[in-house]
Amino acid sequence: MTSQILLATNNAKKLAELQSIVDEAGLTVTVVSPKTAGAYPEPAETEWSFVGNALIKARAGVAATGLITIADDSGLCVDALGGMPGVRSSRWAGPECDDTANLELVLRQIDDVDEDRRTAKFVSVVALVTPDGAEHTWTGEMPGVLATAPRGEGGFGYDPIFVADDSTAADDGEPRTNAELSAPEKNAISHRGKAMRAMLPTLVELLGAR
Ligand code: IMP
Repeated sequence: MTSQILLATNNAKKLAELQSIVDEAGLTVTVVSPKTAGAYPEPAETEWSFVGNALIKARAGVAATGLITIADDSGLCVDALGGMPGVRSSRWAGPECDDTANLELVLRQIDDVDEDRRTAKFVSVVALVTPDGAEHTWTGEMPGVLATAPRGEGGFGYDPIFVADDSTAADDGEPRTNAELSAPEKNAISHRGKAMRAMLPTLVELLGAR
């Protein structure tokens, strides 16, 4: 029998990433989105931590659908900015701003920072909440450095300015940003991939117990 779980996001890339992670693990699980499961109002992300916001999103999903719900909250933490933008990553340049405005603001804010001090990390917290109220969270991190200008067409958000420590260089020896990696290459080293893979044993246990 195929079980359904909800991933509380409308981001199709995150949905595809979790589906491929559960498929690779050999689970017969279908990951559905709020659109498929029955749309509900998105809760406000009012916490100042990734854990708090991931739990808000997962609790709202389970309350609306009755399905085991997974949610992730993530962001970019820049050392030279004291860990910001962090939970403010998607709105860093203002509520109406897009990914390009956000990453351009970060580049301006650190344009006087020496190359060896442009360190940063992506952080993802994955929360899982069950219909009977059990709550679990896992954290994944992807350390790296910030480039001085955007490169690449793939990914989203801050990917064009982020060079992961685990990324391999291009054929000409140039370091590659996340936006220059294929989706499987990024998923294998990403903060979200790590947190989601850490979640799998608990998911297997919960589905086995149903
Ligand atoms: P949320 O967890 O979907 O609210 O995402 C927060 C924000 O963090 C996104 O809008 C992006 O700006 C940034 N972010 C999170 N994960 C990534 C990633 O894998 N690549 C690039 N930006 C990311």
